[in-house]
Formats: sequence, structure tokens, C-alpha cells
Amino acid sequence: MADWQTTVAPPALARLLATARLPEPPGAARRPAYRALAARIRLLVSEGRLPVGARLPAERELALALGLSRTTVATAYEALRAEGYLHSRRGAGSWTALPEGSAPPSDALHPVPPDEQGNILDLGVAALPAPQPFLSAAAARAVDQLPAYAAGHGHYPTGVPVLREAVARRFTERGLPTTPDQILITIGAMGALHLVRQALLGRGDRVAVEAPSYAHTLQALRLSEARPVPVPLLDASPAPGRGGGPRWDLAEWRRVLGGAAPKAVYVIPDFHNPTGALIDEEQRRALLAAARSAGAVVLVDETTAELGWGVPADVPLPRPTAALDRAAQVVTVGSAGKLLWGGLRIGWVRAAPALVRRLATTRVYSDVGAPVLDQLIAAELLAEDLPAVRAHQLTRLRDTAEALTTALREQLPHWRFAVPPGGLSFWVATGGVSGTALARAGERSGVRLAAGNRFGSDGAFEHHIRIPLTVPAPAVPAAVRRLAEAAARAEDDGGWRGTDDNQPLAV
Ligand SMILES: Cc1ncc(COP(=O)(O)O)c(C=O)c1O
Repeated sequence: MADWQTTVAPPALARLLATARLPEPPGAARRPAYRALAARIRLLVSEGRLPVGARLPAERELALALGLSRTTVATAYEALRAEGYLHSRRGAGSWTALPEGSAPPSDALHPVPPDEQGNILDLGVAALPAPQPFLSAAAARAVDQLPAYAAGHGHYPTGVPVLREAVARRFTERGLPTTPDQILITIGAMGALHLVRQALLGRGDRVAVEAPSYAHTLQALRLSEARPVPVPLLDASPAPGRGGGPRWDLAEWRRVLGGAAPKAVYVIPDFHNPTGALIDEEQRRALLAAARSAGAVVLVDETTAELGWGVPADVPLPRPTAALDRAAQVVTVGSAGKLLWGGLRIGWVRAAPALVRRLATTRVYSDVGAPVLDQLIAAELLAEDLPAVRAHQLTRLRDTAEALTTALREQLPHWRFAVPPGGLSFWVATGGVSGTALARAGERSGVRLAAGNRFGSDGAFEHHIRIPLTVPAPAVPAAVRRLAEAAARAEDDGGWRGTDDNQPLAV
């Protein structure tokens, strides 16, 4: 059973069941009501909309809420138990589970090495090439500045002052007044998250996370023996034509914050990885208030915050989350890795000066600081080239997103996705094909893929993949052809993990 148990009330489960759209299997036939009910519960669990370990209503109560017979519900529960999607114990009730072998992959998804990139298309890593010629020009200017630094020891545990100033200025421009002493420069956002985790979280502490969330943070939390508590995003893969896009389920956040007492909350409100969702200020304020009441630190990951390629220029972006509630405990991490270049390995923490000093003290025992030359290059790009670099990267992402939308609709019309307002990827429901099987088949079709279950804290999202917007637009149709080929192989290999229970359920 999960470490903390959500209890799903009968009306809440009835509402969720009504939204559980089953994938169209080949040759679907009508099935008895108990199989349709079991299939919908299975789908909700495997898509992460019902967290693993959620306690389901007693058979009689659910039967009443759904207008079904108790035997139908009992038989559905029995079928789910037999498949490993439900565990029950007398006196403790029934709670959702995933079948054995559904754990999220624990190995890293390795980038395809440059010498193999002719044979295999890398759709695993969501990071763009450097914006050129801006990077090379900034590097040349940084080299010119190097002699002034070379005269000293070169160790800057809090960061080189010009970069701290440039990062603070950017926060201020985005609506969050910031001074350089609130900034710590790190080795990428991963380095920032590592330092913050080390300082604020102990073994066994709970951290409430969005489901889905960024795969490497989830894995890093597991490795440090923190306990992620997933809170499903609403409408992460909305039905075609439904507006709105993904958003937080604030009622569930309040329940988790009140009931599970997490030490921290980890969220990606600005062009979320993997869904690209942008959370509005009202939702951000509500989550901050709930976290404040619960005494939880809010760790905001802004790595993707500058990637609003789908937001019209005259629409203001939400302010950084930390600007919205000065009484909440907010720590923000960010990165140069997505807008500038991942190869710089520059990230940052924005926090109270006292925490910045504490983090700088502890990092002296690990990485000591980020390389000076890389910091100078990042400072040059931020101070001199930001508008031009942004325009360059956002145009590229927008063009790829348009090409991907067209190619997916043409070649894989049963795959479901929302076109997000920004970010680095599409979050795609594969119409019942196992993302794991698809990733395996992809290796044979010449495409490396991130299966959806990497983005769930407990192995959910088996029927999803993340498609990054990294392929240049003209190459997208061929990339999607490889995906379609991999999907056909996965289905042939028995990678159909959907359901043959496709009949509508009267709820
Ligand atoms: C949300 C999020 N956080 C952190 C990272 C890691 O960033 P960095 O490469 O700066 O370590 C990424 C990279 O994809 C990300 O998307």
C-alpha cells in the first residue's frame, strides 16, 4: 500500500469514472457492465488519475452511487484484484495498485551519443541545440573577460557576481523583485534541486508532486529516500476539442497537504514538463495559501519558465510563483539549460539570503561552485542577448509544435494530446499502446523515446509518451513515421496494454 492513503468518496469516483474515456481497441465488442467498470478503474489508475494506494469505496456504496447492482461492483473489484490493480484486506478495505512489474524505470534515459545520431533519432532528451551565433559570440566575449578572473582562485560558492546580478535582474523583470544575495548559481537545475533537497529534506520525508512530473526529480527523490505523494493534474490529456488544458486539482492538493503533512511541495507551474501546462495566478495563490497553512515549503521549478512559445505577445505571463504570497515559504530553482544551452550546465536557486548562504556552505563539500567561464557566458547571454535568443528558440519550438500537431493528426490519429502554450514537449496518450513497449520497439525502429511511466511517481502513465519539441520542423513528418512504425511493432509484439472492455458505462 502507498505510504499515504487517499480515500476516494463514492461521488468523486463516479465523477472520475464518467471522464474515463477508454481507448478504441481493434474489433471492440460489447462486454458485461462489470468488465466496463473494471476497465475504467484500471484506466484511471494506469493514467495516474487515481493515485496508487487510493482507498476505493465499499462495494455497496459504489453500487449505490453508480446505480449498478452490488454484484456488478463486487465482480469488477474481483477482476481488478486478479489483474493486480486492486488489493483488499478484510477490515482495511480495498485500495488501488499497479500489477507487479509496473514500477517506473529506474535506469536513466541516456542521450544518444553524437556518433550514433545518424542511426537513431533521440526523442528522449528534451533540450534544444544552442542558439547560434549567439552562444559562440557570448563565449568569445567571456574569454575576453577571463584574465580579470584568472588572477584569483576562481572559487565562487554562491556564483560569479555578474551572473548573480543578471539572474536577479531577470526575476525582477518578470515581476519578482530580487537582489543578488537571494541567488545561488548551481550546476544546472539538477544541481540546484540536489542542494535544496539535501538542505531541506530528510530520509522518509514526504514531498507532494504533480502527477505527471519531471522524471529526473522523481527519481532523485526516490534515490534520496524521500517519499513522493502524487497529486494528479486535471485534464493532462484532454479529449479533442476540449479547451482549458491541464490544471491543478486544488481540492486534492488541500487534502494531501492537510492529510499527508508533506515537508515540501514540488511543482512546475510554468510550461510544465512533460505536459507544457501553464498554471494561472489564481491557482498558484491558492496552492501557496494551502502550503502555508500546512507549513510546507513550496519548491518551484522554473526550468521551463521562459518557453511560452504559444502565448501571444500581448498576453502577460503569470508572475513567478514566489511573487504571489510573500508569507509562504517558497524556494525557486531555474536553469539556463533550456533557453540558453544545456551544455553550459548553469542553474540557480532563488531563496532567502540566509538559505543561499547555507546552501553555499554545504556545496563546498561537493561541487564547490560552477565553472567560471560557463558562468560568464551565461551572464553575457542574459545581459546582452536575451530578447534575441528568446525569439530564436521560441520560433523554433513553435514551428516544431505546429509540424508535430499536423504529423500526429495525420499519421497517428487515435493518439490524444493537447497543444500546450509552451514548454519542451507534448504529453501524448497512445490510445492503449504501452509506452514501455513502444520505447522498446522504438530502439528497433531507430527512435529513442521516454515512456510515460518515467513521469509517474509509482509507475502510472503506462499509456503515454513524452514527445520533445527538439526535432527541427522539416524533419518532424519523418520522425513521426518512425514513431508510427514503432507503435505498429509494439502492437504486434503484444504491447497493447489497453482494454477490450470498451462499452460505455452508465454513470
Ligand atoms: C522541470 C525541469 N527541471 C530540471 C531540469 C534539469 O535541468 P538542468 O539541465 O538545468 O539540470 C529539467 C530538464 O529537462 C526540467 O525540465
